[in-house]
Amino acid sequence: MRDHYCRPISIASINPQTFPDVSLYTKSSGNYVLYKPHDRKFTDMDRMRLEQNFVEFLYVRTGDMEEVTRFLETGLSEILNRHDMDVRTKGQILYQTTVNYVIDVFENPEEAAKLDRCRNLVKYLLHYLCSDPTSLNALHSVADHNYYIFVHSLQVAALSLLVHDEVYGLTPDELTDVGIGGLLHDLGMVFISNSILEKPDALSDVEYYKIKQHAQRGYECLKEIGGFSEISLLAVRHHHERFDGDGYPSALKGDAIPRTAQVMAICDVYSALTADRIHRKAVSHERALEVMRTEMPGAFNPELLARFVEIITARKSTEK
Ligand SMILES: [Fe+2]
Ligand SMILES: [Fe+2]
Repeated sequence: MRDHYCRPISIASINPQTFPDVSLYTKSSGNYVLYKPHDRKFTDMDRMRLEQNFVEFLYVRTGDMEEVTRFLETGLSEILNRHDMDVRTKGQILYQTTVNYVIDVFENPEEAAKLDRCRNLVKYLLHYLCSDPTSLNALHSVADHNYYIFVHSLQVAALSLLVHDEVYGLTPDELTDVGIGGLLHDLGMVFISNSILEKPDALSDVEYYKIKQHAQRGYECLKEIGGFSEISLLAVRHHHERFDGDGYPSALKGDAIPRTAQVMAICDVYSALTADRIHRKAVSHERALEVMRTEMPGAFNPELLARFVEIITARKSTEK
């Protein structure tokens, strides 16, 4: 599913003055190559050279990630308030930091017990999304496709936050719970074996049955850890219900499906369609919306889907 050896860090988040002294690697034909040892400083010159070569990421060994994560998370509010940094760079750093959080929880679900960590990141995310109409456009460059599930989690959180913010008058706390549900909606995938998740061919009925368990298992895992709101928990459990009642795990129909799960179902499919997967290539924004509107009858709440299309299209058109 992913490489346990190194984690990608966007160059944008490596501030030469303050970044911790850790070794950095580049990736070349699938191998990690030392770019700088821990006792050499990363300089502005390094950054310039890498950017000229269109390198967007360096890699950090997982053993060094704790230090890097601490650095990034404590520095986030300062970074987001900086005036000398453009909105795209800020977005890259924030997205990167949030994806790192999701990776941590997927590697060790107990990490989800540190709810404050998640809550803080979601608050920054919400603030960032609302502060700039072009804020979605840094999302695609967060990491390579080996990290699909983590970037997907962030994407579903970001899209769900935007839709909830525009469609319903939620309090900041409720919005935070929506974001937490989005970040963790597929956590149950950690209980599914990699041989099924990475299988390029069609799944057998048994394999599909196992995959479908991720919604319920993610819910049970978070419920057991404790501290999560109903909004977050129900979003995780029901994000694969279909509006016509043909979904799982509970085959709920129409408005019996919790509202946040109805929104998340839409964001989930949109995010999956617009990403490269093992078995198929990404489709464009326009094609994804067309597929959802015309080729998936009964899957979604039609009014919500119409609002989603409106909101996301408005955002996309400001990106260009
Ligand atoms: Fe899912
Ligand atoms: Fe998902």
